Amino acid sequence: MSTIILGIESSCDDTSAAILKDGVMLSNCTANQEVHKAYGGVVPEVASRAHQINIVPVVDQAIRKAGIRKDQINAVAFTRGPGLIGSLIVGVTFAKGFALARNIPLIEVNHMQAHVLAHFVEDPKPSFPFMCLTVSGGHTQIVVVKSHLEMEVIANTIDDAAGEAFDKTGKIMGLDYPAGPVIDRLAKQGTPRFKFPEPKIDGLNFSFSGLKTSILYFLQREIKTNPNFITENMNDICASVQDRIISILLNKLKKAVKQTGIKEIAIAGGVSANSGLRQALQEHGEELGWNTYIPRFEYCTDNAAMIATTGYYKFLKGEFAGHGIKPTARYKI
Ligand code: KG4
Ligand code: ZN
Repeated sequence: MSTIILGIESSCDDTSAAILKDGVMLSNCTANQEVHKAYGGVVPEVASRAHQINIVPVVDQAIRKAGIRKDQINAVAFTRGPGLIGSLIVGVTFAKGFALARNIPLIEVNHMQAHVLAHFVEDPKPSFPFMCLTVSGGHTQIVVVKSHLEMEVIANTIDDAAGEAFDKTGKIMGLDYPAGPVIDRLAKQGTPRFKFPEPKIDGLNFSFSGLKTSILYFLQREIKTNPNFITENMNDICASVQDRIISILLNKLKKAVKQTGIKEIAIAGGVSANSGLRQALQEHGEELGWNTYIPRFEYCTDNAAMIATTGYYKFLKGEFAGHGIKPTARYKI
């Protein structure tokens, strides 16, 4: 008999549903919430309301696109956390209702673990053990992945996440939220000629708040002599910011490779959609003899395919959740 999993993702501002049959993805549908642009960041209450509007149509679309019937679904996997509590509640409650109505098991999924397992949605898949640099709007981690469900976080950010470094510096420059993709696009036409300092943090942990402050002071200084400094140099500022964020990430990754001896290297999370980071990782990999794994764009940012995939591995191990399960805003791997 085949195993069909419905995956639900609602941790931040994207409502997503996916159908997976025996580990093969049949559909992955996402409703993005454009509404947050006007506020310069995700407004939690607005996000929860939008999830409530989107969840039924998105799940319906995923089921229709997969060409299956509701009564063929064997389990529902949902994001339990980490994320915005109001957003998580919508996905968790929907998953519980669906599982109850169909009398099928529930599977809880850690969103950060799912970002790593996005590498198992399709080929090529990394072999174990591998290291994953998970870079999103809320997290920056280096994870040693021993098996599908055995992961050890060996590095974390001590302040802002890499995605926040993009979004917050973008905000200083007057760019729309989320600024990451905008900086990525503008940086392609610029030169990284402004040199922002690299933070000196011992060990493998990351820090990005100093970078944000140094960019703020730099721009304030330049604007004093030229009020149009930002608009006149936008592409070069973006290229310089991106260049420094990438070098912070890759220098720590190189250190982690030295420390662990693991040369099977993957990247995941929203920031792994960054074209500069993707190119730099590939070049480093070729130079240093790493096998690198870079997910397709749609599996970098939040998506339910990665939730359903994680759910599938838990289903195989019989790891089900009870109906008393609650969403968790802070949920460690
Ligand atoms: O994983 P994700 O979709 O949501 C979270 O779980 O946080 O990551 C969102 C983050 C945002 O900070 C966004 O600016 C960043 O990923 N991002 C990018 C790019 N695309 C998304 N950052 C840099 N370059 C990109 N192309
Ligand atoms: Zn995410």
